Amino acid sequence: MTKEFINLSGGDPDAEAPKWAVDATLNAIKGGREWTHYAAMTNHPEQFKTAVVDYYKQFGPRYETKQVIPTAGSSAALYIALASVLKEGDEALLWNPFYAGHKWILDEMGVKMNLTPLDPENNYRPRLDKIADKVTAKTKAVIICNPSNPTGTVFNEKELRYITDLAIDKDLAILSDEIYLHYVYDDAKFISTASLGEEVKERTINIMSFSKTFSMTGWRLGYDIVPERYLDKAQRITRMTGPRPANFVYAAGIAALTGDFSYVEERRQIYQGRRDYFCKAIDDLGFPCHKFEGAFYAWFDARSTGLGSQEFVDGLHKEENCLLSPGSWFGTDTDGFIRVPLVRDIPTLKSVVDRVKRFTESL
Ligand SMILES: Cc1ncc(COP(=O)(O)O)c(C=O)c1O
Repeated sequence: MTKEFINLSGGDPDAEAPKWAVDATLNAIKGGREWTHYAAMTNHPEQFKTAVVDYYKQFGPRYETKQVIPTAGSSAALYIALASVLKEGDEALLWNPFYAGHKWILDEMGVKMNLTPLDPENNYRPRLDKIADKVTAKTKAVIICNPSNPTGTVFNEKELRYITDLAIDKDLAILSDEIYLHYVYDDAKFISTASLGEEVKERTINIMSFSKTFSMTGWRLGYDIVPERYLDKAQRITRMTGPRPANFVYAAGIAALTGDFSYVEERRQIYQGRRDYFCKAIDDLGFPCHKFEGAFYAWFDARSTGLGSQEFVDGLHKEENCLLSPGSWFGTDTDGFIRVPLVRDIPTLKSVVDRVKRFTESL
C-alpha cells in the first residue's frame, strides 16, 4: 500500500509545546543540579503549585498550594483521584459514552460503573431524569468529564447543578476531569464544577493536564486539586506510587501557566475550524457526525454500513491505511460509532474523509 499512514487512534495534538515552555526546560536542564536532581530537595514543586493556584483562580475557586498534587500526566492524577475515594466493591456514576481511561482504571480497581446516557437522540446532553436512579447505596462517586471525551459535551450550569446537588444529597465524591477546559466553541462556556459553591468544592477533585491545553502529551505533566477531606489519602497514594513529574518538567509547567495564553486561543480556533470542516464533510457522506461543543473529537454514526465499530476500524486500516478508534471502546450501545481526534491539519482530515468515502462505498 502506498498511501501515507494516518494514525488518528489517539488524541495527540499536532502542535508543539509553547516555545517559552521548551526554552525554560532546556535552560533548566542546562542549568544542572538545581533542576536535574530530586525535585523534592528544591522549591520547584511549590513554585509549580503556586502557578496552578493562580491559574485556576480565573475559573472561580481559590485553593491553597498544599491542595495541588503534581503528577506525571493526568492519567496518574486520575488514578490517584479515583483511588482516594473508591475501593473494590464500590460503584461510580458516569456517562455513556465515557472516556475509556476512566473505565480501565475502574475495572482494575473492581469498581462497578453505573452508566447514564449521553446519547445522540438527546443531542449528547445528559438526561437529568435518568441520573438519580443510577445511584445505589454502593455508589460513592460521580465522574464528570467536562468537556467530554468522546462526545464533546460541555455541561451547562443547570446540568452541573443537578449533578452536584445529587452528589451532596447522596454523599458522593465528585471527580471533575477538566483537561479540555480551554477547548470550547460557539456559545458553550466551561464552568468549573468546584465553582458551584463551597459544599460542592469540598467534595470535588479536579483532574488537570498539560497534554492537550499546551500540546505536551509526551512531557507527562498533570495534577490533581484535592479538597481537604480526601487530601491525606491522596498524598499517601502519591507518596507510595510516586508518579511525579521530572524536576525540569516543572520549569515547563511554570512557564506555560504563567506565559502567553494566546497560544491556547490560537489552538482553540484551529480545532474549531477543523470541527466545522470535518463534521460537515462526514455528515455529507451520510454518517451523522456530532457538531461537538468542546474538546476535539469527532464522533460519527456509521451504523448504516452494517459494520461494528471494530470491523469498520480494521477495514479502514487494512484498505486505506488510516487508523481511527472504535466507538465500542467508549461505551455500551456505541457499537457502529467511530471516534476521530481532530489533531491533524485540514488537508490530512480531507484525506481521512476521502478514505472513509472510498472504504464505505466499496462495502
Ligand atoms: C478525558 C481525559 N482524561 C485524561 C486523559 C489522560 O491524559 P494525560 O495522561 O496525557 O494527561 C485523556 C487523554 O486523552 C483524556 O481524554
